[in-house]
Amino acid sequence: MTTEVSFLDGNFGPVTEEVTTFDLPVTGTIPPELAGRLVRIGPNPKAPPDPATYHWFLGDGMVHGLRLRDGRAEWYRNRWVQGDAGEVVNTHVVGIDGRTFALVEAGSQPVELSDELDPLGTCAFDGTLEGAYSAHPHRDPTTGEMHAVTYNWAWDHIRHVVVGPDARVRRELQIPVAGGPMIHDCAITEHHVVLLDLPVTFSLETAAAGVAFPYRWNPDHPPRVGLLPLDGAPGDVRWFEAPTCYVFHTLNAFERDGTVVVDLVRHPRMFATAVNGPNEGDPVLERWSLDLAAGTLVTETLDDRPQEFPRLDERRTGRPHRFAYAAAVGAGLRHGPALKHDLVAGTSEVHDHGPGRATLEPLFVPRADGPGEDDGWVMSYVYDATTDRSDVVILDAGDFTGEPVATVHLPVRVPFGFHGSWIADR
Ligand SMILES: [Fe+2]
Repeated sequence: MTTEVSFLDGNFGPVTEEVTTFDLPVTGTIPPELAGRLVRIGPNPKAPPDPATYHWFLGDGMVHGLRLRDGRAEWYRNRWVQGDAGEVVNTHVVGIDGRTFALVEAGSQPVELSDELDPLGTCAFDGTLEGAYSAHPHRDPTTGEMHAVTYNWAWDHIRHVVVGPDARVRRELQIPVAGGPMIHDCAITEHHVVLLDLPVTFSLETAAAGVAFPYRWNPDHPPRVGLLPLDGAPGDVRWFEAPTCYVFHTLNAFERDGTVVVDLVRHPRMFATAVNGPNEGDPVLERWSLDLAAGTLVTETLDDRPQEFPRLDERRTGRPHRFAYAAAVGAGLRHGPALKHDLVAGTSEVHDHGPGRATLEPLFVPRADGPGEDDGWVMSYVYDATTDRSDVVILDAGDFTGEPVATVHLPVRVPFGFHGSWIADR
């Protein structure tokens, strides 16, 4: 059984104003090396939707940002974001080539934002993107290229889209798939893109009934994982039979001894009975090992505590990693403490932000030139139900359970939502 959750109540509910505020109060000391913006985005409907039909993924986007420089919290801003023609863009914010882009999947293209987070309109990477984009590109640390997998209900294929460090599309390869799968994320290794073709698919029946979010659990859709060489052709994809489940997010993937290892958060199913947001039982951290010689996929539970929004030191993207960070989420998507996993030692640490306090997606930010994988900070927006306000909390990643290095106090709350980035100054 799953716990009912309303995606319009508590800190899931929208805020009603765009705010600009300067010189925020800080407890502790902001590391002066942190110069940039901590941006994130999530759904924040402008007009009150019908709670019976509102889907969490379809709320108008609102971006939030905190600007740090010289040890000061210079400003916090939040802004509604919308694509041209009123398209919803609400799932991730990334920096590419000194520019800022808000992202969404399933048909819409990115919206470019100013440095102060004002929306500048839909931007198909300066006209180089033909189709839809994704909310989850992964940057290859060697080439700087960003790899994403895109889909659109009207397509008979998915696409491997590569965006160069110059924010222009270099490749948009069509890969035939059946059944219209919803593909939220992918992963990359040194040589492959990992494709997730899992049993949540476009439902014509649901769409015909006028439901705004027409993707449903489809037990007839064979779950599989594909490996596409980074510069391969559609016929080069090698498919592996996968467990029946749904995956929104990979943590990372890498190659080791003839195996492709994919770490990810596994949901038992999705949009089967709870159809207004992700709420179909506990999501857990798993490792899927794809044996390239045998053609088999073996799963292993890394941590069975419910969690989501896994992140890592992105200098390790596509390469072996040791540490991972995630937000603990209880029944009914109840947000809680932050988790740090040591996947080599097989241990985890918990940072409890205190009574009534819950972390949103925690990000790892490396110390400049710090070679250690946990040499840096973990930053997140933290909601405090006792004050109905949010803070930005900066932890020392190497002292994860210790007191925060700094806590920046915002005059408003930041609703639970999706993803964000630390965009360092260049
Ligand atoms: Fe996501």
